[in-house]
Amino acid sequence: MTRIFSGVKPTGHLTLGNYLGAVRRWVEVDQYRADALFSVVDLHALTVEHDPGRVRRLSRQAASLLLAAGLDPERCTLFVQSHVDEHARLSYLLECTATDGEMRRMIQYKEKAAQERARGGSVRLSLLTYPVLMAADILAYDTDEVPVGDDQAQHVELTRDLAVRFNQRYGHTFTVPKATHPGVAARVMDLQDPASKMGKSGDGGAGVVFLLDEPDVVRRKVMRAVTDSGVDVVYDREERPGLANLLEVLAACRGDGCDPAELAGGYSSYGDLKRDVVDGVVELLRPLRKRHAELVADPAFVDGVLRDGAARARAVARPVVDRAYQAVGLLPAG
Ligand code: AMP
Ligand code: TRP
Repeated sequence: MTRIFSGVKPTGHLTLGNYLGAVRRWVEVDQYRADALFSVVDLHALTVEHDPGRVRRLSRQAASLLLAAGLDPERCTLFVQSHVDEHARLSYLLECTATDGEMRRMIQYKEKAAQERARGGSVRLSLLTYPVLMAADILAYDTDEVPVGDDQAQHVELTRDLAVRFNQRYGHTFTVPKATHPGVAARVMDLQDPASKMGKSGDGGAGVVFLLDEPDVVRRKVMRAVTDSGVDVVYDREERPGLANLLEVLAACRGDGCDPAELAGGYSSYGDLKRDVVDGVVELLRPLRKRHAELVADPAFVDGVLRDGAARARAVARPVVDRAYQAVGLLPAG
């Protein structure tokens, strides 16, 4: 059976980008067609300045939101990364496989390190090695497919390279995974800055729709979205990125097979389009917000899911990581 692994970092509240780029497929498709594991990857949240209490709260919230979105613990495994030691154990072996040049070429590292330095801060070493930990997350589970948004393509490519290199050096050990991306909305852009990805920590949130935003807040953010000069509604990612983003979001809300270019033909004004985007997003999020409120009232249920999930994840990862330790030449503990 196909094995799927993916994760989300608890560095902020989950966004519409997370949902359309990744989580929605986990819920609607992946958990039914594969042996799927999904993780709140909390160790990754420590790569930038963080507040311990906030990371804890956001980890629980991310898990609750994934359940609210429809992950079914009977069908998939949901767990918190730091509850399973194998990730950190394997990460070290992969640090011994990757090169520093390879790490420094990662786009996300270059961008985030530059931001950090511009703020006068220092760059944690773990920000550089982050993709190696991500590779460990994936390879520890003999993963075949990694459903992610476009921004993670380079990291999954690196994971493939490390798996192939390790296998060549030490004998076949790892399954070589591949990334899968959604057909539309694989990269949802910030509503205030269509050149940047809609991210959890984006600009105070004016251009970021969070999954828990009230309908009024969604309305305000969408109606104020930056559009491009021009009056006609056409789908052109290069020349009209703000408009293209709204069309993609609406197409994604409408569901399977809805094509943003075709949608564009049905509109003669930006205002009508924005109103439909508001309705589409509000309806998409309504059931999720309701279910989340129920789960918040039942923390014991969420804790139980995460406990069972970690036990299941450990049982899968342990033999894979043991195999890698042996292959690389470490003496078995006996
Ligand atoms: P992160 O928020 O970086 O932990 O991302 C979790 C998942 O959501 C990854 O698969 C990302 O590729 C995806 N994702 C995050 N932001 C966006 C976005 N703006 N558009 C599409 N996918 C996204
Ligand atoms: N790096 C991913 C992101 O920023 C999150 C992540 C960590 C992940 N480990 C993973 C995604 C393993 C898929 C598989 O979005």
